[in-house]
Amino acid sequence: MNENALVSEISPQSNIQQQKGSIDIKDLSVVFESKDTRNVALQTTNLRVNPGEFVCILGPSGCGKSTLLNVMAGFLDATSGEALLDGKVINEPGPERSMVFQHHSLLPWKTVGGNIEMGPRLTGDLEAQQTVTYFLDMVGLSEYRNHYPDQLSGGMQQRVGIARALATYPRVLLMDEPFGALDYQTRLVMQENLLNLWGEFKSTVVFITHDVDEAIFLSDRILVMSAAPGRIIKDIKNPLGRPRDQFVSSDPIFIDLKRECLELIRTQSMSKP
Ligand SMILES: Nc1ncnc2c1ncn2[C@@H]1O[C@H](COP(=O)(O)OP(=O)(O)OP(=O)(O)O)[C@@H](O)[C@H]1O
Ligand SMILES: [Mg+2]
Repeated sequence: MNENALVSEISPQSNIQQQKGSIDIKDLSVVFESKDTRNVALQTTNLRVNPGEFVCILGPSGCGKSTLLNVMAGFLDATSGEALLDGKVINEPGPERSMVFQHHSLLPWKTVGGNIEMGPRLTGDLEAQQTVTYFLDMVGLSEYRNHYPDQLSGGMQQRVGIARALATYPRVLLMDEPFGALDYQTRLVMQENLLNLWGEFKSTVVFITHDVDEAIFLSDRILVMSAAPGRIIKDIKNPLGRPRDQFVSSDPIFIDLKRECLELIRTQSMSKP
């Protein structure tokens, strides 16, 4: 399996640099209620993600990370408060926001190219075929255009998922543990790939992970959430410069930040809801 970082030699299209959205979360809470249960998935939360920022969210299982991301994506309604994209209330999914999930959600009956092409076609991209060519090249999978998802490795499937997510030129890329199911080596390469792609796009990214090293390696800012019912307990600016490679993990700044995050998470993991 060739998982090398593969960033296109092709110049980015002229509109790419404009794809930066802001997200504002204002007094947002989400409660799931059924006939006899009431589950506070997310306590009142306030947050701003600036255009072009790469924000990682860390927190214990079940604390509401995916819930928060799903509201940003427009898949889920807030119980109170609101989420805004570039100042406009989010109440449905839209092509200006793309989501990448932990497990690829590629359609098995469509080829790699067919999967990536769907978004551009829906958004009226008259050059959908060229867009597919461009993004396939960018994730290093040009020769797999006519393959089906189950003919690819897990890492390759995730790369197709990322190409598909980018192919609508989203202003915000939402990623819910996108590398969580990958083996360690592949994950490291995928992280570097993503940073290379982001270096080219600079679109806004909100990235959920359980992996503290991953959060530090990727982010401009780390949000640490409490145990369920979740809220943001710490908003940490990542002082590490860019570009980064995996050897940054031996930098004392990295180690200090890791210690801070791990201590916060340990405290939360031990606290009773
Ligand atoms: N559709 C739903 N209906 C009812 N409860 C839900 C629903 N989705 C999530 N929840 C509940 O909301 C809480 C937060 O779930 P969420 O999936 O956001 O957690 P998470 O932080 O993403 O966890 P993990 O790290 O395990 O992915 C959990 O208690 C979960 O059971
Ligand atoms: Mg989740």
